[in-house]
Amino acid sequence: RIKSINGREILDSRGNPTVEVEVLLESGDTGRMMVPSGASTGKYEAWELRDGDLSRFRGMGVLSAVKHVNEELAAKLIGMDAEEHEAIDYTMIEMDGTANKSRLGANAILGVSFAVIHAVAKAKKCPLYLYIAQKYFNNHNLEIPLPMVNMISGGLHAGKNIDLQDFLIIPIGAMNFPHALEIVSNVFWNLKQVLEEKGYQSSLFADEGGFGPQLSSHREALELLLQAVEMGGLLPGKDVMIALDVAASHFYHPEDGMYHLKSENRILSSLEMIDLLEKWVNEYPILSIEDGLAEEDWEGWKELTRRLGHRVQLIGDDLFATNPQRIKMGVKEQAGDAVLIKMNQIGTFTETIAAIKLAQQSGMNTIISARSGETEDATLSDLAVGVGGGQIKIGSRL
Ligand code: PGA
Ligand code: ZN
Repeated sequence: RIKSINGREILDSRGNPTVEVEVLLESGDTGRMMVPSGASTGKYEAWELRDGDLSRFRGMGVLSAVKHVNEELAAKLIGMDAEEHEAIDYTMIEMDGTANKSRLGANAILGVSFAVIHAVAKAKKCPLYLYIAQKYFNNHNLEIPLPMVNMISGGLHAGKNIDLQDFLIIPIGAMNFPHALEIVSNVFWNLKQVLEEKGYQSSLFADEGGFGPQLSSHREALELLLQAVEMGGLLPGKDVMIALDVAASHFYHPEDGMYHLKSENRILSSLEMIDLLEKWVNEYPILSIEDGLAEEDWEGWKELTRRLGHRVQLIGDDLFATNPQRIKMGVKEQAGDAVLIKMNQIGTFTETIAAIKLAQQSGMNTIISARSGETEDATLSDLAVGVGGGQIKIGSRL
């Protein structure tokens, strides 16, 4: 049973406040969770509660969410059986009473939810990844996932230098995880040199630790990334593939239904965006495209999936928001074929697991993803190993 719940304000990798929760069970076991935080958030995400008090942390404080943890949630949940964590999650959802967890804050609820599951696993003397694998996924094939790692950032993660948000690499030729990390590290340092040789400021790091240079075009990002791969003697297409997070919701203008590529001075329709992505897929070793179109552009997504679904993985991040309702819609409409999983988009352990199961049962890939604001909390890795999807998306200098 839960004996105490303690929330506190800590800082994340961007130096912004976030919530940490510690749960103590009567058995003496504890569980702890540090909540991640996004910057390029989608419309359909659960609500991260911030104080808005401009005299502290530019309004980004989370003392109100922490207060909800320590007062309202603690009062209700202390004494409950921690193993009944589904009941605990639904109790919090009910107490919150809103569709997007905006009253108590998804950051408060997520912190408690995952701290409880950590404590339960600890009480069972079972690492969290194994607990998740056995209890929820019947997963006997425990594997470290293949990482998808940010190298060049744009959009909201790098002061809108270019419009696309992430140029990532996937070390598909790696023999094992240490080898995958070695490849990623090599490409990273080679890219620094490539950027310097072109006269770019390679000391400008973006929110996920990748480079944030003021490039002239998106194509240049692809070219420089390829050069960095080849410089290490690696074969693009064989050892290393490229992945994109277009994050198109963030340059889509619903008023005119167009995609505004400001850095290239171009305004594209949904079909023209698809043409552009198809052209890049034809010319570059691209394996995966995330949010190639905006979160409300369902018609575009259907066409994108018809055109490119058989050639590249099409991930919905803002599109699905780790939300079972939206994933169902995606399956029905055949929009996208993979779901980016971010636990704080939905806000509880139970709903995160439900979203992953639904995606897996519908034949969609799942990619467990970091946020651009992270902490040293390793829950993400436990989840990625436990659910068995084989893929994790992370930054390069977390
Ligand atoms: P965010 O970005 O964590 O800032 O939302 C990550 C992404 O878009 O995948
Ligand atoms: Zn994304």
